[in-house]
Amino acid sequence: MTPAEKKLVQTTFATLVPIAEEAAALFYARLFEMDPSLKPLFKSDLTEQGKKLMTMIGVAVKGLDTLDELVPAVKNLGRRHATYGVTDAHYDTVGGALLWTLEKGLGSAFTPDVKAAWTTVYTVLATTMKAGADARA
Ligand code: HEM
Repeated sequence: MTPAEKKLVQTTFATLVPIAEEAAALFYARLFEMDPSLKPLFKSDLTEQGKKLMTMIGVAVKGLDTLDELVPAVKNLGRRHATYGVTDAHYDTVGGALLWTLEKGLGSAFTPDVKAAWTTVYTVLATTMKAGADARA
């Protein structure tokens, strides 16, 4: 990622933090609209789950300069996701719901550059999680 992309992701994430709960609610509504079969995978309270998701994205966004250090933790997260019933294909659906949520939450600040930068971050996270899920060591 270029420094400019990192900055775009960090500043846009910061504007979402105050509306994190609403953003998480929008995200799950959109996700289940895109694929209702995902709903039963989520066993716990969605408000709590939404907080965990936003926290984890926040950790990654903050650590964009040192993402390499997060690889083991993100791989473990991916391994746990396999046990929740998450498949590789689900990552595309979640990525779509995430970008849609960013568009709703950011409004006109969701420029093509912002979209491209977030797509890069999500792709790095998803690719690392999938690698972790595949490594059945
Ligand atoms: C960048 C991608 C993702 C991130 C950062 C993320 C983050 C998290 C976090 C932090 C948790 C809390 C539990 C734990 O730490 O193991 C969690 C749980 C979960 N995630 Fe994700 N996740 C991602 C992608 C996905 C995808 C693609 C799916 C597919 C539907 C998914 C479905 C779930 C489910 C079903 C749970 C467990 C919920 C429950 O027990 O009720 N996640 N996720």
